[in-house]
Amino acid sequence: MRAHLIAGNWKMNKTPSETEVFLARFLPLVSQAEPEIVLLPAFPSLHRAGCLLCKTNVRLGAQDLHPEPRGAFTGAVSAEMLIDCGCRYVLVGHSERRHVFGESNALVRCKLEAAVSGGLHPILCVGETLAERRAGETESVLQTQLGSDLADLSARSFPHLVVAYEPVWAIGTGETATTRQAQDAAAWIREWLRRELGASAGETIRILYGGSVKPDNAAELLALPDVDGVLVGGASLDPVGLAQIVAEARA
Ligand code: 13P
Repeated sequence: MRAHLIAGNWKMNKTPSETEVFLARFLPLVSQAEPEIVLLPAFPSLHRAGCLLCKTNVRLGAQDLHPEPRGAFTGAVSAEMLIDCGCRYVLVGHSERRHVFGESNALVRCKLEAAVSGGLHPILCVGETLAERRAGETESVLQTQLGSDLADLSARSFPHLVVAYEPVWAIGTGETATTRQAQDAAAWIREWLRRELGASAGETIRILYGGSVKPDNAAELLALPDVDGVLVGGASLDPVGLAQIVAEARA
């Protein structure tokens, strides 16, 4: 049985001071919690969060990284910098990076490689738009994203990889995928991982669902056989709400 992972993607929210206030409220609520918890604050909050989390059961992650290790890339942040702040995880290919910032599958692939070789655990986000779902293209979109993002990834990366299914139409809209839609997509992804990366990768790689996850719908999503956790946006900004979601997860 794969242990659940509960990840909070704060996007462009919370200053370092607000991060500290959040943690003061959140950490006592989850100090006994056993599922893996990951918080993904914005870059400026990482260092302070890393100091406050280092002796806790909550892990730290970043929302993005640059594929190169260093150099003249104004505004960018490398895997090594994230590790030094205490990060273990990093989001790669989030739909806002793909659609708002125009990241291609080729760039996502390079970032994934940089994350793995830099010692980070990538959370690779995939998912279709509403138009693609309505056109019956969900599986072909997932196939293209997974096929190109994970192309030729070495087997040593598999234990560190997490895949998040985030249908774009469910992100920040209040419209969650039905349990049937979430399970069908997660099962399809697991079958793809089995077929393309091998049986063991298919069994061990965790698949998260993301898109309007809230305390009142987390339990039914976490009960699905192929959903191994949730990637929470808006609802992760509230320490009490996020702790309620954690309470629905298994270790
Ligand atoms: P919401 O939970 O706000 O819909 O965001 C989901 C998401 O994008 C998490 O990465």
